[in-house]
Amino acid sequence: MFPPDYWYAILDARELRRGKVLAARRLGVDLAVWRDEQGGVHATSDRCPHRGAALSLGRVRGGCVECPFHGFRFDGDGRCVEAPCTGAEAPRHLDTKAYALREAHGFIWMWWGEPREAYPAVPWFPELDGNYVHAGLQASEWPVHWMRSVENQLDWPHLPYVHRTTIGIGAPKVMEVASTLVDDRLDTWLSDRVRPDGTPELKISLILPNIWINPFGGKMQIGMLAFVPIDERRTKMYIRTYQRRLAIPGLAQLLSRFTNVFNRVILKQDARVVMSQPQEPTSEVKDERLVQADLPILQFRKAVRLRLRVVRE
Ligand code: FES
Repeated sequence: MFPPDYWYAILDARELRRGKVLAARRLGVDLAVWRDEQGGVHATSDRCPHRGAALSLGRVRGGCVECPFHGFRFDGDGRCVEAPCTGAEAPRHLDTKAYALREAHGFIWMWWGEPREAYPAVPWFPELDGNYVHAGLQASEWPVHWMRSVENQLDWPHLPYVHRTTIGIGAPKVMEVASTLVDDRLDTWLSDRVRPDGTPELKISLILPNIWINPFGGKMQIGMLAFVPIDERRTKMYIRTYQRRLAIPGLAQLLSRFTNVFNRVILKQDARVVMSQPQEPTSEVKDERLVQADLPILQFRKAVRLRLRVVRE
């Protein structure tokens, strides 16, 4: 179960070319996602309501997805607008489920929850609104629950162990972790690593449900991840490095590409350990004994639990 009433980043926008449809399993749902001839993005269930063929094997025609089997067409609201073999207007029972999508910040976002008259804006980090570029499409798929992948990036005390040969060199073993959760934004830092003006030297941030930044290069370079749930046991991570534009054309993209390679090495170090954890929604976990340094993880779990509980009630 995934906390509802959120926009989830589900795809990098570059994966979906104009006039093309693709299959994507997201939040446990098999989707046909397509980009129409005008560039608009749409998603429906990937199963044709007629006789079950995968719509994602079809083609995009007139803004709709056309089933490869008998040519029925479905618009972005899931409405069957054409059923050729009937020779008549398609009956409404041929309509299918559609999902609200948005395209912003180079991602495609899906609303997970009941449809609304008006939707909130997609979440985003104001830190990334500057003059940045990011290069290439980097993603990594892990056989882990989505919450485990998020928690790994909120975990300070793993640095001197999992990453002892890379980013964990020189990291303290004894640490006190600070963390705040305001609305859907969680910020965390090491309490004793602050500048003279009291601001953290490094502050890692998550906006629920699934985007995260690490400004490891100050304002010059910001690492960014989107944790995309495929289903209850698989997560796809989109990896970006936002590099501030530089005077030499192309240099920022080159640096971003280079840093992405390094980031993949770091994630590989994480994967081995995270995959060894029990893969279950950690909002339900009862047999873990958390310590002070796990404060951001505790807050994340509480936020997810609260959202799930509100919906259940
Ligand atoms: Fe899709 Fe028949 S199965 S139109």
